[in-house]
Amino acid sequence: MHGLLYPMRTYLVVSGRLGDEVDVMAADWITIVSAKPFIIAVAVAPTRYTFKLIKRFGEFVVSVPSIDMVRDVWVAGSEHGPQKIARMRITFEKARSIGTPVIREALANLECRVVGEHSYGDHVLFVASVVDYSYREDAFRDSKPNLSAGFLAHIAYSEFTVFSSSIVRVE
Ligand SMILES: Cc1cc2nc3c(=O)[nH]c(=O)nc-3n(C[C@H](O)[C@H](O)[C@H](O)COP(=O)(O)O)c2cc1C
Repeated sequence: MHGLLYPMRTYLVVSGRLGDEVDVMAADWITIVSAKPFIIAVAVAPTRYTFKLIKRFGEFVVSVPSIDMVRDVWVAGSEHGPQKIARMRITFEKARSIGTPVIREALANLECRVVGEHSYGDHVLFVASVVDYSYREDAFRDSKPNLSAGFLAHIAYSEFTVFSSSIVRVE
């Protein structure tokens, strides 16, 4: 019952190349595995079109969406293949260090190069180095997330939420 670990944050994974084939899928199952160097992992089912593109290029971008992008997140997470992009209101931009594009509207974009992969059950865990990143200054102030930027969390199926602005500071 993987739902017992929810709510989880929701991200977008961009894969492929502009002008060739580019795809975006929603992904909850993303984690940090090392801070220095910065390494993350994402679990992608082999049935996803995104899986094919990550295997082909060995790269992907993790984009951090805000609640304002929730309709695009739903399209990315419920439709298969690059044709969905025409129905999304996102703008692709050249990344700083890799060939996969980033999403301009996102709160942050992490440019990732695959360094390892392993199949576990029904998903493949791609482990990747974050080789570059960019972010909106208003979303990350004083080196921490500004909750009013609307960071997205997934409850179940098509239900999403944002974080409350109340902060508990432990002394
Ligand atoms: C909020 C949300 C989170 C999701 N998280 C994941 C995930 O972590 N891994 C995964 O393989 N699929 C996940 N999915 C499913 C894919 O996003 C979905 O199958 C998508 O249509 C795949 O697109 P593609 O075939 O174009 O790559 C998620 C779907 C939603 C709606």
